Amino acid sequence: MSEKIQTVIVGGGMITHDQILPSVYQLQRLGVVGEISVSALNGAPLKALAEAPMLQSGFPTQSFVSYPDYKTVDLSKPYPELFKEVLGKLPKRSAVIIALPDQLHYSAVKEALNAGHHVCCVKPLVLKHDQAIEIEKLAFEKGLVVGIEYHKRFDDRSLIARKRYQAGMFGDFRMGQARLIEPWYYRHSNFQNWCTCENSDAFSYVACHYIDLVAFVTGLKPVMVNVYGIAEPWPNGKKGFLWTDGRVVWENGAVLNVQNGFAYPNVAPGGNSQGMMLFFNGKEDGGYLEQMDSFRGVKHCFTANADKLYNETNPDYFQLVPYGGDGFKPVGYGYRSVEFIVNAMVKANEAKTLPEQQAILKRLDDDGIMATPKNSAYNELVMEAGRMSITNGGRDVVIEYGAHPKVRFKEASEYVKI
Ligand SMILES: NC(=O)c1ccc[n+]([C@@H]2O[C@H](COP(=O)([O-])OP(=O)(O)OC[C@H]3O[C@@H](n4cnc5c(N)ncnc54)[C@H](O)[C@@H]3O)[C@@H](O)[C@H]2O)c1
Repeated sequence: MSEKIQTVIVGGGMITHDQILPSVYQLQRLGVVGEISVSALNGAPLKALAEAPMLQSGFPTQSFVSYPDYKTVDLSKPYPELFKEVLGKLPKRSAVIIALPDQLHYSAVKEALNAGHHVCCVKPLVLKHDQAIEIEKLAFEKGLVVGIEYHKRFDDRSLIARKRYQAGMFGDFRMGQARLIEPWYYRHSNFQNWCTCENSDAFSYVACHYIDLVAFVTGLKPVMVNVYGIAEPWPNGKKGFLWTDGRVVWENGAVLNVQNGFAYPNVAPGGNSQGMMLFFNGKEDGGYLEQMDSFRGVKHCFTANADKLYNETNPDYFQLVPYGGDGFKPVGYGYRSVEFIVNAMVKANEAKTLPEQQAILKRLDDDGIMATPKNSAYNELVMEAGRMSITNGGRDVVIEYGAHPKVRFKEASEYVKI
């Protein structure tokens, strides 16, 4: 039996509550994870996590060490550097899960690696391709795992599609549509303070999920991006690209249209609206793949104790269910994704020499199931290209690979005239 891996979650917000902390609690219950700490900017989110009914009922005997200690500090006092001290106190090769706002990922991931720890980072790893490559090199030199938490990869339907595409069953991908429209109520959250036109947009925030999934299924790389955005005021009056329509061209000439926004009605029965439809060239006929990812066939109508009386529950992403023990256990691809990444860290710790550890990292890169800085750095290029396009009226932005991948505007001379 391997040693339990001590785990710190940096960031105590929505994704930590909804998916990361309950997954890590389950891994602790199973004996994979040892002590769990959570660090946040201030005590308020840590108090909310500790008292969250979903976590208390799911894991009644478990708790986390809070940095800062929400029981003793002024809940609003910020401790922006405290997580670095926490990293310094951990045994080497512990698990650090980064669940901070996007723009803080780069420095926090480097802090964790330089302190000698493995990293699981929520998407996006970083905002620039060069930063992803720097992280890849740093982790490889130290024999440390970096896994990016693209949980749609762990949805069985994605794995089945990948297997069938690789077996040539669909044919060649030619054209597709994907959409992920987040709920309208997000407009009233902290999003309005940072997701403004000059910093981000709906494409940058959510399009990566389906772009990564199409790359995961087909193995193709994106080579051109354009994004049309509609700028409208958030409730606080700041302007954001609340609606985006992106087009991604792939190395084989195929095209994917991706629509994103903050618009799924609050009164609607699901958590969001999402799915994709892809078409393929076969030899004698067309191939086709359609996934309805928000409505998965489950309808619940309640009479009490629910925000919405009618619900279309997604049973596949993340649910806590009875299992014949204390509390509830997490099921779904949200849990499996965290479990896979933490298990990869444990496996890397079982290897005793740096070359053995590096062989494990190389295998993770090559298998391509878990997103690593190396096998998913196209996501950072799409992000760079998307921002360049949306802030320039939707112009075409080319992604160039090779020794030093980069993005640039498409030249007038490159358009094919018929
Ligand atoms: N589907 C997905 O994969 C998915 C979904 C939601 C969010 N995310 C990603 O998760 C990340 C966090 O999103 P969220 O919605 O949980 O954000 P959030 O705003 O709810 O939480 C952010 C947390 O970071 C903490 N924080 C900020 N600065 C800190 C510092 N210096 N030290 C320690 N903690 C600090 C805050 O206290 C807060 O608890 C983002 O990168 C987002 O893109 C991914």
